[in-house]
Formats: sequence, structure tokens, C-alpha cells
Amino acid sequence: MNIHREKPGDEAAIHEVKRLAFETDDETNLVDASRRDGYLRISLVAEEDGKIVGHVLFSGVSVDGVSKPLALAPVAVVPGRQSEGVGSAMIKAGIKTCAAEGFDAIFVLGEPGYYSRFGFSTEKANTFDTPYPKEYFMALELAEETLEGASGSIEYPPPFGGG
Ligand SMILES: CC(C)(COP(=O)(O)OP(=O)(O)OC[C@H]1O[C@@H](n2cnc3c(N)ncnc32)[C@H](O)[C@@H]1OP(=O)(O)O)[C@@H](O)C(=O)NCCC(=O)NCCS
Repeated sequence: MNIHREKPGDEAAIHEVKRLAFETDDETNLVDASRRDGYLRISLVAEEDGKIVGHVLFSGVSVDGVSKPLALAPVAVVPGRQSEGVGSAMIKAGIKTCAAEGFDAIFVLGEPGYYSRFGFSTEKANTFDTPYPKEYFMALELAEETLEGASGSIEYPPPFGGG
């Protein structure tokens, strides 16, 4: 399996991964709109035998007191290839890429039981106001002490649907 940045021409295959992985169109629309409206920062695909089987997106967000934050959403692996480590491999590669490019924190809304294995924690995120349930709202520092003492609001771009 090869994990790499999305390339021109990958858009339709990424769209299909989302369509297959999710029950609604929300996540598919989020990826397409983020790309179209310029919020896409890091977009990675997992490719196997020339076929894209997974995708993860990191978009730009605004967070009080944090200079280069990102939001991780969504991550998807095609049914039939889930629970084989593809999602974990993409998230780890994504975190590495985000850090290498100078981003300082990543926010995610998801299952703590899954995301804590990558270092995300609800504690790091709980000083920020979010429209989302706090028990699922997590953050990961890429630069030490980025979130130390930071608080305020997090503003998601329009592709997130005003959430
Ligand atoms: C969630 C998802 C990206 C994980 O990728 P994956 O390659 O299947 O997962 P991995 O092999 O890296 O990790 C497996 C673990 O993920 C857990 N997992 C799978 N789907 C999950 C989900 N929707 N929520 C929480 N945990 C999930 C498995 O229970 C397993 O846990 P364990 O290691 O404690 O047994 C993938 O299953 C998927 O696309 N699901 C449908 C779309 C979705 O729900 N995306 C997440 C919201 S953005």
C-alpha cells in the first residue's frame, strides 16, 4: 500500500471512497467543497494496485490563539478494507505531513477510543468553544505547548456546513 498526496485526477476516486464509506453525502460534499473553495491543506490517499482504497483530509480552520491549526475530517476506508490498518496508516502519515509543513495543531471530532491512539485528547481541546459535543472533540499538538493556555472559539470554514 502506498500513501501519498492526492494528485490531479484523483478527485473522482476520492469521491467514490467517501460515497461507499458513508451513509450520507455530507462527507463527500465536505471534501469536494473544501477542495473547490480552497480550504484543503493536506489530502492523502491510500493506493493499492492502482486503486484508491482510502482518503484522509486536513482542512484549514481558525482557532483563537493558535497560528496554524487544521481540522481532520473526514477519514474513510472502502468497505471490505476496513479494520486492516489502512485508516491508521493514513492518519499517522497525515500527522507527519502536517507537522513537516509547519502546522501546529490538529482538531478532530470523533471517537476518543480510536483517535487517542494517535495522540489526540479531549483534554487538549476542552478550553475551546465548539458547537460539537465536547466528549468527541479532541486536539493534538504538533508543536509543543501550542495549546498551553490557548482558549476561545474554533471557526470551521463554510464547507463544514456552519458547524
Ligand atoms: C473509521 C475508519 C476510517 C477507520 O479506518 P480502518 O482502516 O477501518 O481502521 P484501522 O484498521 O486503522 O483501525 C481499526 C480500529 O478502528 C475501529 N473503527 C472502525 N470504524 C470505526 C468507527 N466508525 N468509529 C470508531 N472506531 C472505528 C475498529 O473498531 C478498530 O478498533 P480496534 O483497533 O480497537 O480493534 C474506517 O473504518 C471507515 O472508513 N469507516 C466508515 C467511515 C467513518 O465512520 N469514518 C470516521 C468518521 S470521519
